[in-house]
Amino acid sequence: MTDSFDTPEAQEARRALEQRLLLEPFDSALRAEYGELLLAAGLHAEALAQARLLTQQLAQNPLGPLLAARALLAQGDREQAMQRYTAARALPGFETIDELEQLALRAQRVEGARLQLVSSAGQAPVRSIQDVAAEKVRFSSIVGMEDLKKTIRLKIIDPYLNPGIFARFRMQSGGGILLYGPPGCGKTMVARAIANECNAAFVSVGISDVLNMYVGESESNLAAMFDKARSQAPCVLFFDELDALAYSRSKASSNTTRTVVNEFLTQLDGVGRENRGVLVLAATNMPWDVDDAMKRPGRFSRQIFVAPPDLEARREMLRSKLVGVPCEELDLDTLATQLEHYSGADIDGLIEMAKESAVSDGLAGNERGLNADDFRYATSQQRPSTMDWLRTVRNVVKYAGDDGSFREVEQYLKRVKLL
Ligand SMILES: Nc1ncnc2c1ncn2[C@@H]1O[C@H](COP(=O)(O)OP(=O)(O)OP(=O)(O)O)[C@@H](O)[C@H]1O
Ligand SMILES: [Mg+2]
Repeated sequence: MTDSFDTPEAQEARRALEQRLLLEPFDSALRAEYGELLLAAGLHAEALAQARLLTQQLAQNPLGPLLAARALLAQGDREQAMQRYTAARALPGFETIDELEQLALRAQRVEGARLQLVSSAGQAPVRSIQDVAAEKVRFSSIVGMEDLKKTIRLKIIDPYLNPGIFARFRMQSGGGILLYGPPGCGKTMVARAIANECNAAFVSVGISDVLNMYVGESESNLAAMFDKARSQAPCVLFFDELDALAYSRSKASSNTTRTVVNEFLTQLDGVGRENRGVLVLAATNMPWDVDDAMKRPGRFSRQIFVAPPDLEARREMLRSKLVGVPCEELDLDTLATQLEHYSGADIDGLIEMAKESAVSDGLAGNERGLNADDFRYATSQQRPSTMDWLRTVRNVVKYAGDDGSFREVEQYLKRVKLL
């Protein structure tokens, strides 16, 4: 958008808002409005700065991350935008935000996709499938989750590698599998590992592919993905962030969502009929946003909870990720105990931050290995990112009526004394 504040009225509106903000700097609605104004005027960086302020002032309010998401999207940084959007959705009060706000974001997503298409005009219309670089994640590189790995081996990998035996026992192995859980706890990693353990090709459909589908080519796009998976069988077809693709039709207000979900259902049912050798996997942070019809038998009827790492897993993560890093007086047992609710990705982040702290000492002439202080600093800077998710899911379990779909989570919440 080129239109800045170049009309006198627009300038006046901006000035008035700025005046009011000076008087009421903690009025979040006002600041959000100001951010919107900046965004509409094409001042993305300024809007982003307001979003940061909002987030700092009100860490538990979704307005900040939502504004950030829209500003980032406007800047073309879709990945970061989706992260903020996901963060916003996990915060209390997201549901009560003006639906228009949410719609605007969805509309912008569509717009973003359209622009991307226009800019790549002349090339093949839509590149809807990414072949993920054959990054060899195996089960052995996933720390912890012993029960989960055992279940997956028994229920997914063995039947897949050895269909004969299971057919004789008449065990069901069809249908897709939905991995769900808080961010950063290894869902994507598990999906990749399953593909590798099955010696199967891996076709991953991500958010940007989803975006393209909203352009109206959804039917042929989806069909193309399933076709590609079939042509590469044995193949794992992986839908990351399924909630974005199969957003609940009852919650969605647009027709596009409806069509996309319907087509998805048709394709999924097709897989059961015609495609041996295609294993459909999906992951989501927001299973309650996924359309119910997606979860019926033969579709994503099996749902697996990917929990945050337990004490032992955290200890093992620390150990394996600190191999070759100079450390002094670091008691990993104690540290692991302190890291309850930290995700695998959080632990990666903590280690990086702790390293920075040690390095900055080193630069000041005091060269040393990582110690407990570095981690104390790191944990003071970064809180566990799974808490918001756990809080949200606790509400879902408590209030959304127990249809048994989150039993695994319920047990987990009880185990960690959050329920
Ligand atoms: N069990 C684990 N063992 C080793 N590393 C892990 C584990 N879980 C998470 N990690 C680390 O965290 C990173 C993020 O994991 P991953 O991308 O699989 O999470 P995710 O659940 O898909 O998150 P999101 O919901 O944000 O997509 C991994 O790249 C890895 O470095
Ligand atoms: Mg992921």
